[in-house]
Formats: sequence, C-alpha cells, structure tokens
Amino acid sequence: MEEEFFLLCALYGKSGKPVQATLSSLKMLDVGKWPIFSLCSEAELQLVRQACVFGSASNELLYTTVNDEIFVLGTNCCGCLGLGDVQSTIEPRRLDSLTGKKIACLSYGSGPHIVLATTEGEVFTWGHNAYSQLGNGTTNAGLVPYHISTNLSNKQVIEVACGSYHSLVLTSDGEVFAWGYNNSGQVGSGSTANQPIPRRVTGCLQNKVVVNIACGQMCSMAVVNTGEVFVWGYNGNGQLGLGSSGNQPTPCRVAALQGIRVQRVACGYAHTLVLTDEGQVYAWGANSYGQLGTGNKSNQSYPTPVVVEKDRIIEIAACHSAHTSAAKTQGGHVYMWGQCRGQSVTLPHLTHFSSTDDVFACFATPAVTWRLLSVEPDDHLTVAESLKREFDNPNTADLKFLVDGKYIYVHKVLLKIRCEHFRSSLEDNEDDIVEMSEFSYPVYRAFLEYLYTDSISLSPEEAVGLLDLATFYRENRLKKLCQQTIKQGICEENAIALLSAAVKYEAQDLEEFCFRFCINHLTVVTQTSGFAEMDHDLLKNFISKASRVGAFKN
Ligand SMILES: *[C@@H]1O[C@H](CO)[C@@H](O)[C@H](O)[C@H]1NC(C)=O
Ligand SMILES: *[C@@H]1O[C@H](CO)[C@@H](O)[C@H](O)[C@H]1NC(C)=O
Ligand SMILES: *[C@@H]1O[C@H](CO)[C@@H](O)[C@H](O)[C@H]1NC(C)=O
Ligand SMILES: *[C@@H]1O[C@H](CO)[C@@H](O)[C@H](O)[C@H]1NC(C)=O
Ligand SMILES: *[C@@H]1O[C@H](CO)[C@@H](O)[C@H](O)[C@H]1NC(C)=O
Repeated sequence: MEEEFFLLCALYGKSGKPVQATLSSLKMLDVGKWPIFSLCSEAELQLVRQACVFGSASNELLYTTVNDEIFVLGTNCCGCLGLGDVQSTIEPRRLDSLTGKKIACLSYGSGPHIVLATTEGEVFTWGHNAYSQLGNGTTNAGLVPYHISTNLSNKQVIEVACGSYHSLVLTSDGEVFAWGYNNSGQVGSGSTANQPIPRRVTGCLQNKVVVNIACGQMCSMAVVNTGEVFVWGYNGNGQLGLGSSGNQPTPCRVAALQGIRVQRVACGYAHTLVLTDEGQVYAWGANSYGQLGTGNKSNQSYPTPVVVEKDRIIEIAACHSAHTSAAKTQGGHVYMWGQCRGQSVTLPHLTHFSSTDDVFACFATPAVTWRLLSVEPDDHLTVAESLKREFDNPNTADLKFLVDGKYIYVHKVLLKIRCEHFRSSLEDNEDDIVEMSEFSYPVYRAFLEYLYTDSISLSPEEAVGLLDLATFYRENRLKKLCQQTIKQGICEENAIALLSAAVKYEAQDLEEFCFRFCINHLTVVTQTSGFAEMDHDLLKNFISKASRVGAFKN
C-alpha cells in the first residue's frame, strides 16, 4: 500500500465533503495583497493553489484548490464566471463543469472572456463573445465553458494569451492559433474580418517554432526558438517596435532586435517589454505613463533598453489592460514603473515586494493578475516532515514497544538522539521488542510521537498521564506542553483532579493555575465528585490555602 501522509484540514469544502490536503501541497498561495480574496474564509484560502483576478474593476475571481476544483466569484459580467447564468456572487461558487480538470494556463480579455488550457492541452473558453473571441463560430455570449475542438482537436495547447477581444494559443509543436476581434489585424490572418474559429497564424511564422506568446490590447507577439520576435496587429503607438505606426495584418519580424536573442515577451495595453537571454530588458510603444522606463514620456516605436540595475533581470511583467510594467532581478529585487496607482513613474522603481504579482495587486489599474498566480507543487519534505512520517511505521522501524497489547513502531537511533533516557537505556539493547507496563498506550504513544514531531495532541486528562511520564523521564519541554494542554482543558468538573495531578507531579505553575481556577469557581467545584473524593492531605492543604487567600471571608 502506498504510504500517504494526509493532513486533515479541519474544514469542509463547498461540496460538503471533508477536505484533505496532502503534505506535499501544504505551501499556501500568498494572495494577501488581493482585496477580492477577503471574500474567502481562512479555511478556503488554505486550499487555494492557483488564482486569477480579472475584470474592469478587479471584481472577478477564479481560483483552483488542492482538490482540483475551480471556484469563481464576482460580478459575473457577461457570464465570465462560466456558471451558466449572469448572477453575481459574493461567495465562491464551484465551477462544476470543469471539476477534475487541471489548469495549465489561463488568460482573460476585457469583455471579459476567458481562455484556459488544461494540463492535457485542451482549450476551454467562455464569457464575452461579441467578436467571436470564444472561437466557437458564433457571437453568442458563452455562459458555460466551451471546449474548442475545431482545428485544435489533435493539438496540445501549452500557452494562452488574450488581448482585449482576441485570443491566441501556442501548441506544443510551436504553432500559434488565433481568433476573435481583428479590427487591426491582431488575428494575423491578413484581413480585418473577425475570425470566428481558431486559425493558424502563418505567413513568416509558417516554418518557425514559437516558444512564447503575448497580446497587447489589440496586437499580438510571438518569440521563436531562435530568439527572434514576430509582431502583428495594432501599431498606432509603435507597440510593434517596427519604427512605424502602421497596423500589420500578418506577422513581421522586429528587425531592430537583430543580434539580440529574446526569451520572453510581455505586453501592456499599448507597450511591449522583452527579456533577452542575457537578462536585459527592451521596451517600446506607448509611454504616456512612463511605462517604457526610459526616464521620459516619449513614445518609442523602436526597441529601447531599460536600465534597471546591474543585476540580470529574470522576469518581466505586463498586462494587456494596464500601463504598468514590472521586473524581477536575479537577486530577487522587484521593480515597477509606468502607471502606479495614478502616478507616472518613468524610471524603474525598486519596491519592497518579492514578486511582480504584488506590483499588480497593489499598483496596477485595474489591479488584475498579469499571469495565473500559482504555488509550485512542492514534493520536497523537510527533515522534520520526513521524521513525522516515519513515526509508527513498521516498514522502517527497528524497535517496537508493546503497550496494553498494542505495538508502537520506532527507530532506536532517533530515540537515542532525541531523549536522554533512551540514550542510556537503549545503549546495549539488542532486542527489537520492549514491553512497557508503567504507562497507558495513549500516553506512551503520545510520548514517542512527541519525539518525532515536537508536539502533542491529547485530552487534558491524558495529558496528566503524560505529565507523569515527562516528570519521570525529565523531559522539561514536554512537561511544559502537558501543562499547557491541561490549562487549556480545565473545567469545573475536572479542576480538582487536575489540581491533584499538578501537586503529585510537582508542577508548581500548573498547581497555582488549577488552584486559582478552583477558588474562582469555588461553589461549583466544591460540589463535584472530584472534590468529594479528594485526598485528605490535599483537602487540608487546599482549605488552608483557600482560607489564606480569603476565599471564606464573609
Ligand atoms: C457556441 O457557444 C454558444 C454560447 O455558449 C452556444 O450557444 C453555441 O451552441 C456554440 N456553438 C457551437 C458550434 O458549439
Ligand atoms: C484580420 O484583419 C486583417 C487586417 O486588418 C485582414 O487583412 C484579415 O483578413 C482579417 N482576418 C480575417 C480572418 O478576416
Ligand atoms: C481551420 O478551420 C477552417 C474551417 O474549417 C479551415 O478553413 C482552416 O484551414 C483550418 N485550419 C487551420 C490550420 O487554420
Ligand atoms: C503616445 O501614445 C499615446 C497613447 O496612445 C498617445 O496618447 C500620445 O499622444 C503619444 N505621445 C506622443 C508624444 O506621441
Ligand atoms: C526619451 O528617452 C529616450 C530613451 O532614452 C530618448 O531616446 C529620447 O530622446 C527621450 N526623449 C526626450 C523628448 O527626451
């Protein structure tokens, strides 16, 4: 049987089923800077693995969970939540039609419309469709996810990009398909009619292998594996980098980048950023907000170097609906420029953020995600996590304790490392079974588990037993944990029992705590069976101490 360590998050999903998270997916997605996430509970946030904030007022949200469920909430403009209606929702609703699909990438337009590709390479679209940007041959609003098959049926899509009203996808064999609004040639087909179904972008891309795509508001870009950049569509602000302002109905190479190998391209509303294989950034296009980072607001129709700092840039960020630019250096510094919350920042400004996503959350207008936010599934277990898994594992253990007729499987070396008592008692021990009768099974198990995990989970009554053990083995930290558990579990019924235990195990701090509790609840406590059965000496002590603190004054 495959050993899987499950952490039961003590919560229930929308489906009403208990929700479990595997240890490998415990890393949480940090969405704290996105205001719309304040509509999700802490428990819901724990499960979020990917997220996209979109909409003209950052008022739409889609996220996936560790269970491969997709949830949406927001104003549902044009049915962009894909739920089959146009009802707005302030609570997350599950997008049932895509349950079980894993999202590889996702992009959105200004309508908004959504284009997503699954990890299997299938493409789904929904939302605004006035320009056929859903690629299903019609212009009817798409209220539910539509699986595009025409022309893409035996293709594996690995990247998607949306302009305001057009859509672009990249397949695993380096082909680009486009559809939707084509008023400026952004579909790359050579005409201005809207393109109702996916059409391969050919022309001078015909024999090229594309490795990255991006869309500005009304233009399209592709980076090919040789590091060349091809551009088409609207060029009124020089965003195609061709030195002109005429629109291009078919792909054109950015000739000014001759000799420069580009790795990534990112498009803002009307400006373009590229990242070279040497970690340099070039920008061109509209510059009314300083989004080119050149230190002035003159538009540039040719690639212009952006001087960020001496360190290499490893990531560039822009979004077709914003005039904001961001970049991250190899040293982890994040810069922003362009339109930043109403200010025009004309030179790259060093932020305190550690991610370019945060620049968009806090400074872009609208504050939308420039890419799908995601946590890398992290299969690496820390030393602590690995040890936790090994507790009571018969497959790797070399020692078992027999307590109350039940086995607990452990590792000698770990016990010796973690506990003074075992260091000596296991020194010359050749046996692989040790019988234990001084303590009960739950108590002894909790003790051994503590050696693997640093923590305990016991009822206050059982913690009393563990306190006994901790005293016996001189495990002071464990003693403290037990006392904490006992304090947190004290009530009128068990107060006297806990007080007796504290006295017995010489836990002075706990004794004082239980005593105070008894005095504060004296009337009820003195009527409990615990009080009636109290040990004679303890009772005498209790009464005299109570009297000293004035409990019987009248
Ligand atoms: C395209 O999507 C619309 C809206 O969801 C739907 O009414 C229509 O039937 C779809 N067309 C095709 C060819 O599937
Ligand atoms: C897209 O627009 C361009 C020029 O604006 C035009 O030449 C081309 O035919 C249009 N595409 C389609 C599919 O109609
Ligand atoms: C896509 O579909 C249309 C219509 O069926 C067809 O004309 C076109 O050649 C197809 N293929 C590509 C690669 O665009
Ligand atoms: C630059 O482009 C912007 C955006 O379209 C335009 O409004 C502005 O007039 C242009 N500026 C110059 C100096 O050409
Ligand atoms: C703006 O900056 C660019 C890039 O440094 C430079 O080429 C251009 O001359 C500047 N324009 C003005 C008006 O200063």
